[in-house]
Amino acid sequence: MEKREGDSHTIDENAGQSIAPRRNRGNLSNLNVDMQVTNPPEVAALFNLHQAHHFGEFEHSSEQHCKQELFPKWHLPVKIASAISLLTFIYTSLRDVIYPFVTRNENVFYKIPILVINKVLPVVSITLLALVYLPGIIAAGFQLYFGTKYKRFPQWLDRWMLSRKQFGLLSFFFATMHACYSLCYPMRRSYRYKLLNWAFQQVKQKKDNAWIEHDVWRMEIYVSLGILGLALLALLAITSIPSVNHSLTWREFHYIQSKMGYVALLLCTVHALVFAWNKWVDVNQFIWYTPPSFMVAVFLPIVVLLCKCILLLPCFRKRIKKIRCGWEDNTQTNQTSMTSRL
Ligand code: HEM
Repeated sequence: MEKREGDSHTIDENAGQSIAPRRNRGNLSNLNVDMQVTNPPEVAALFNLHQAHHFGEFEHSSEQHCKQELFPKWHLPVKIASAISLLTFIYTSLRDVIYPFVTRNENVFYKIPILVINKVLPVVSITLLALVYLPGIIAAGFQLYFGTKYKRFPQWLDRWMLSRKQFGLLSFFFATMHACYSLCYPMRRSYRYKLLNWAFQQVKQKKDNAWIEHDVWRMEIYVSLGILGLALLALLAITSIPSVNHSLTWREFHYIQSKMGYVALLLCTVHALVFAWNKWVDVNQFIWYTPPSFMVAVFLPIVVLLCKCILLLPCFRKRIKKIRCGWEDNTQTNQTSMTSRL
């Protein structure tokens, strides 16, 4: 009760503060009109005061605007996305462009604007998507370890949990760009020349059919999975719009963001795995002893999905459910309170 009174007092005070300048301004302008006829020098002084008041107000607000931070919630996710993009770009350029140039003197720099970028985009997208679900898993591990939901998470985990929406939206942004880049592959001139060269080679080898059954299946499946993954990411992005999520109950929102989110992560991971197909066992993929980018891309999502599967085992799931309903493991909580007292 006391707290509430205090709160309302603060609100009243703030309301008073925000209304006061308007009221003063009204009085001043009335005064201005009243005195215009009667006392010109005093009017001039007051007018100056009035002007000064207005300019002060503008200066104050522009200063405040300058001090206001731009997109504060986006700082961490954007920094992480930029760092992953830069590292992946360097990694892929070294493997796909610099390696053929150094070892075979082959000039394939034309690959940078589309082919290299289109390896960076999905790697960043899927890594960011995994980073949306990783803190939830760490948090569940934390609660299982301490046997309570009342112990505060470390500050970094708190911050990370609060940035999940931004990580997810960035992941969707990168995935959309990846889809656009992928769909424009056949439009490229380099692709047309390659196709002509392949056809010529085929004629030279006297082959009348270039159809490779498993390759056809591979592509049909991975493109289809990619489209499904992107559609689910779009659904997640739409439900994170405030006006849409306000129209959902907490359970509906949680269902979409958690369950559908994991399904999206699974679809995208399988999309990358099917794209890789038999390249997993191809030693030629290890250029300069480095693994191909699809292996790097699926590493974190697979870790997250495996951890989620472990947490879904009945023994863990039941315990987490109890903890989240308020149950506390007394042996654990006593131990933690003892150590915190020591
Ligand atoms: C319309 C949807 C999509 C299409 C058409 C599509 C298409 C493609 C294509 C053509 C490749 C091969 C790229 C290459 O040749 O280097 C690829 C690879 C990949 N895609 Fe997608 N994709 C889609 C959605 C997604 C989504 C939503 C994700 C994850 C968030 C994703 C993650 C990946 C990954 C990780 C790779 C492997 C990249 C690598 O080689 O390192 N894709 N996709």
